[in-house]
Amino acid sequence: MEGAYYRTKESVDEYTKLSKDVSGKELIEKLSKILTPGAEILEIGSGPGTDWRILSETYTVIGSDNSIEFLAHLRTQNPLGEFLELDATALKTGKRFDGIYSNKVLHHLKDDELTSSIKRQHERLNPGGIVCHSFWKGEGSEVFKGLFVNYHSASDLERIFENYFEILSIEEYKEFEDNDSLLLIGKKKTPQ
Ligand SMILES: C[S@@+](CC[C@H](N)C(=O)[O-])C[C@H]1O[C@@H](n2cnc3c(N)ncnc32)[C@H](O)[C@@H]1O
Repeated sequence: MEGAYYRTKESVDEYTKLSKDVSGKELIEKLSKILTPGAEILEIGSGPGTDWRILSETYTVIGSDNSIEFLAHLRTQNPLGEFLELDATALKTGKRFDGIYSNKVLHHLKDDELTSSIKRQHERLNPGGIVCHSFWKGEGSEVFKGLFVNYHSASDLERIFENYFEILSIEEYKEFEDNDSLLLIGKKKTPQ
């Protein structure tokens, strides 16, 4: 990850404050139609922990982030929770999951990093495992607040995921403006 944003206590406090009224509740409702309650989920890039808490109402969730500052925040706020220091590209864990979820995290990966991440997610999922990830919709990439941001179209995501996952749905939704975001839900293909 480029830049210091997400890496300092000040930026973590600022992001947590700015995003306090934002959550992935509607995305998680879509996931819950596919993945049965009690399933074991990895959340990538848990950040302030809002979605981790919502996911935890239905699933056994392990949170993660590659920012030490966000991890410190998550562990202080949720002393009973399990949080791993994980980079989304390498996903260096020996654990296996029934589902892998992220909300506005994987857009920080370059195309080749996203491909590596998807391959790695396929390896860490149990048979029939589900991925559920949101992205910013658009074209090209930019650097915003020192962070790399990659925009995707539905066809672009389909092409990147389809070698490893059966695409169950790719839907547009509104985060701030109409259809500014995409939610992809996929099922692990076997054998690979
Ligand atoms: C836009 S925030 C989203 C946080 C949270 N999912 C939410 O919906 O509020 C992006 C999060 O992804 C984390 N992140 C960025 N790049 C990452 C990477 N390569 N691996 C793991 N986490 C990453 C950041 O530290 C931050 O917590």
